[in-house]
Amino acid sequence: MTRRKFLQIWQVATGMIVSFISAPAIYFWQTDRSVTAEIDDCWIDAGRVDDLPIDQWREEMLLFQRQDRWATFEQKELIYIHRSAQDITVFSAICPHAACLIRKNDAGFGCPCHKSSFASDGIVLAGPSPRSLDRLDTKMQDGRLYVKYEKFRPGTKTKEMVG
Ligand code: FES
Repeated sequence: MTRRKFLQIWQVATGMIVSFISAPAIYFWQTDRSVTAEIDDCWIDAGRVDDLPIDQWREEMLLFQRQDRWATFEQKELIYIHRSAQDITVFSAICPHAACLIRKNDAGFGCPCHKSSFASDGIVLAGPSPRSLDRLDTKMQDGRLYVKYEKFRPGTKTKEMVG
């Protein structure tokens, strides 16, 4: 074998090895695995519907996993659930003003940070919050409540999903 032939074979072999090693990294880098795409299907089990008391608000911590581009991480989010004879209402506990956690009170809900207050139906009553509480989509399946957990941009008049 000539030296030139050996170098040609070595070049091709090296190219194949580099391609083989880097292909998975290129695939993961180019594939769009944004958080938003994962969130689109993010229905989180919030428990049995029959366990929810009628005409009472219940504070619930949702525990779930989120998939980011490279990692899976645990997430905890507070929500408020109300079950009436007709339907179920779920509010995010994140204040639409600047994202503090709201709290249930006798009048409805209040935010401890800048004193926004909200009626039980989520309508803003007072304070700097630019919009009412963020209602979350729900569905019932096999006797269980599922909540589509989404976050919305704080400080805006309309709900703009951010993740
Ligand atoms: S964060 Fe709730 S009123 Fe400002």
